[in-house]
Amino acid sequence: MAGIEVSALHKRYPDGTVAVDRVDLSIGDGELFVMLGPSGCGKTTTLRAIAGLERQTSGDIHIGDTLLNDLEPAERDIAMVFQFYALYPHLRTRDNLAFPLRAEGLPAAEVRERVDEAARMMKLEKLLDRRPNRLSGGEQQRVALARALVRRPRAFLMDEPLTNLDAELRADMRTEIKHLQAELGTTMVYVTHDQVEAMSLGHRIAILNQGRVEQVGTPLEVYQRPASLFCAGFIGSPPMNLLEVEVADGALRAPGGLTLTPPPGLPRDRQLVAGVRPEALEVTQPGAEGAVPARIVSAEALGDEIIYVVDHGGERDVRVRMPPTVRFGEDAPVGLRHAGGTPPVYDTTTEELVA
Ligand SMILES: Nc1ncnc2c1ncn2[C@@H]1O[C@H](COP(=O)(O)OP(=O)(O)OP(=O)(O)O)[C@@H](O)[C@H]1O
Ligand SMILES: [Mg+2]
Repeated sequence: MAGIEVSALHKRYPDGTVAVDRVDLSIGDGELFVMLGPSGCGKTTTLRAIAGLERQTSGDIHIGDTLLNDLEPAERDIAMVFQFYALYPHLRTRDNLAFPLRAEGLPAAEVRERVDEAARMMKLEKLLDRRPNRLSGGEQQRVALARALVRRPRAFLMDEPLTNLDAELRADMRTEIKHLQAELGTTMVYVTHDQVEAMSLGHRIAILNQGRVEQVGTPLEVYQRPASLFCAGFIGSPPMNLLEVEVADGALRAPGGLTLTPPPGLPRDRQLVAGVRPEALEVTQPGAEGAVPARIVSAEALGDEIIYVVDHGGERDVRVRMPPTVRFGEDAPVGLRHAGGTPPVYDTTTEELVA
């Protein structure tokens, strides 16, 4: 086992597309590290470079003390699982699992032992004699994961391995992958564009945008203090409300009269935007203490919560998350107030966190 160091990784494809733009990542030994970002931001390219399936234009990749740059994929001791299962259709589960081990020339007894162990971990014991066309999508993906396991690699790379599964199965498999990684303690880099998946799986998350790393942090850190407006818009559903604010009399004032507590160290003479989570706002009865007059534009009841869209006389309506017991009808006159805490504040020009 070992950590992975990616230094100034750069990938320009022959047609001139820069897919990865001087990316640095320091992935700890035994860490479950998630790379999150929108389609085309360079996740797969980064992963393929680590696996050796794509040669980088420049930059270094280490696993442990080993420089990987000039090693063939097979020499890197890393297993990759793809979005599509890529099982051999004519082979039974048992032989799909054994294939990479036989290719390495391991003795038959050891192959059997490792296949049995991986089958047990991925709960495939009853499916060992079936071919892929008699397995469900989830079962096929479990076989694909087990095939990565049998090799006992120094690291796992997962490229959106759950994308083709339905929501329920996805949630189950997510839990299984998390337990598996914890049990094995093997370093894992997991790629997804699904922020919920990233938040629930990752020890840490790297948020990528246009080939660059915008933020690396724990799920809590990236949720509470997104490093840029891009990250603020990407994490959370619904995302943060971005309110243009001015500093006056020691407070942050947003259009419509909403007042927020400023974080310390705010720069002067810059256009600022405060990021306010939907749960950091509160819809009240009209005239409640500290509330500005507002109106419900729409309400979306989601069972365990209600998302209100609220017009408070600002430039944009805001979204507010409330418990399902607090009911206001559409068009109802209400109050809106900030429920507390200090919001992260961004520079409108640089789009970066300033305080
Ligand atoms: N072989 C290639 N030649 C030219 N450009 C490519 C090639 N492969 C990928 N790209 C481009 O590089 C960028 C990054 O692609 P990549 O596949 O790494 O993105 P991704 O983050 O994995 O996206 P997705 O979430 O859609 O899988 C994109 O702009 C893509 O169009
Ligand atoms: Mg991809």
